Amino acid sequence: MFKFPKYTFIAFTAISCLTGLNAAHAQQHNMSKQYQKPDDQAVQQKLDQWQDLKFGLFMHWGTYSEWGVVESWSICPEDEGWTQRKGPHGATYDGYKKAYENLQTTFNPVKFDPDKWVKAAKFAGMKYMIFTTKHHDGFSMFDTKQTDYKITDSKTPFSKNPKANVTKEIFNSFRKENFMIGAYFSKPDWHSPEYWWPYFPPKDRNVNYDPEKYPEHWQKFKDFTYNQIEELMTGYGKVDILWLDGGWVRPKNTIDTAIDWQRGIKFNQDIDMPKIAGMARKNQPGLIVVDRTVSGQYENYTTPEQEVPATPLSNPWETCMTMGNSWSYVPGDHYKSTHDIVQLLVKVVSRGGNLLMNIGPGPDGDWADEAYDRLNGIGNWMKINGEGIYNSRSVAPYSAGDIYYTKNKDHNRIYAFVLTKQEKVDLPASLKIPLNDIKKVKKVTLLGSAQKVKWKDSADGIELSIPASFNQIGLKQAACFAIDY
Ligand code: GLC
Repeated sequence: MFKFPKYTFIAFTAISCLTGLNAAHAQQHNMSKQYQKPDDQAVQQKLDQWQDLKFGLFMHWGTYSEWGVVESWSICPEDEGWTQRKGPHGATYDGYKKAYENLQTTFNPVKFDPDKWVKAAKFAGMKYMIFTTKHHDGFSMFDTKQTDYKITDSKTPFSKNPKANVTKEIFNSFRKENFMIGAYFSKPDWHSPEYWWPYFPPKDRNVNYDPEKYPEHWQKFKDFTYNQIEELMTGYGKVDILWLDGGWVRPKNTIDTAIDWQRGIKFNQDIDMPKIAGMARKNQPGLIVVDRTVSGQYENYTTPEQEVPATPLSNPWETCMTMGNSWSYVPGDHYKSTHDIVQLLVKVVSRGGNLLMNIGPGPDGDWADEAYDRLNGIGNWMKINGEGIYNSRSVAPYSAGDIYYTKNKDHNRIYAFVLTKQEKVDLPASLKIPLNDIKKVKKVTLLGSAQKVKWKDSADGIELSIPASFNQIGLKQAACFAIDY
């Protein structure tokens, strides 16, 4: 067995101070170090638009929410902290997998109402959404014709509901409000007899036979995967992002043995990405494909997981992070505070990235109250400060102490976010803002206030005089100064 390294990338600061170490941390997929700009101009254009959006919603949802356990991983026969089987069925592997897959016959999220989610996400200032159409366990949250292990099969009680094809409903609801739409899809499928062939027992997360020894069997898996993705690319309206997880399904020659978890991949698991992406882009021109951790033409942005790069990256990237401790719904999960999430967003954006924040819907089809509460708090902050977030790019000096910078991509305007320790913004009477390469500052304003800010030049930037009234307007989490030059 092999393990994910906890912190392989020295260039990355694990923001454990913000998030605490948790289960979702330990499972993390580490990020590609290489990047290839896509040749396709339409993809380049969409990537540029996507980079303006900054803040997205991720949702991990499946039958696993009924038990409130980790998404999929409890049926993976590896002995890791996050794969442990719990509950009354845990004693034997086979008994557990059977009971797990039987969750299909009780899944009935009757409170499912994607319009309610969109409303909350939109208020928070989120602009795109990525949903788990199928996770590693293979349960399709869409009306696939390739398997009956799906939400719309008659065995699933929710199949009688008019909104049973939840992927379609979610995509339509978010698209109506102009969100970019992303389909998370797991390449590995632990239900498919062509991935975990019942002739052999599954041994770990990987395919359980050698595809080169049994090419016909593997071909069936390739066809199955292609067909499912084709369904998603043709029957669900406009899709902007295809987010492919499960980086161990990859051509053997792309395995990087310097990375712990990739050393465990014994077989060539080439699913023919050029063919899949070609089909997908024919149906969805300009589609952003994120074949995460497989550098090349099909990894159009990189995906640091549960962490923020210490320095800006030169390529498009997105930190995906859980709002609670887990990707999946866990009753009583501990949610990050509004304060932490806002400051996290500022840090990510100041380094040129996007933040994809995950909420795991529960088995009733709704989110925990905390999720709505946090989105509301973030929205209140965004109403005042969103101007410095959207359409921005990173700019030196990126950050200095508690000050984080962004730059509007079209105007000569820099934003300096001053993060505060407490909820309430409490600025000192005089504040130094270091600036790089700016000869002449024309104007400084505080977002959320009509009053002008006085400043004078200082050795390596400007020094602001802060009127006491600024601390009385009720700003929270972080104040943002707009600096025109
Ligand atoms: C981790 C988890 C996986 C989850 C993914 C989201 O890799 O192992 O279950 O879907 O993070 O980024």
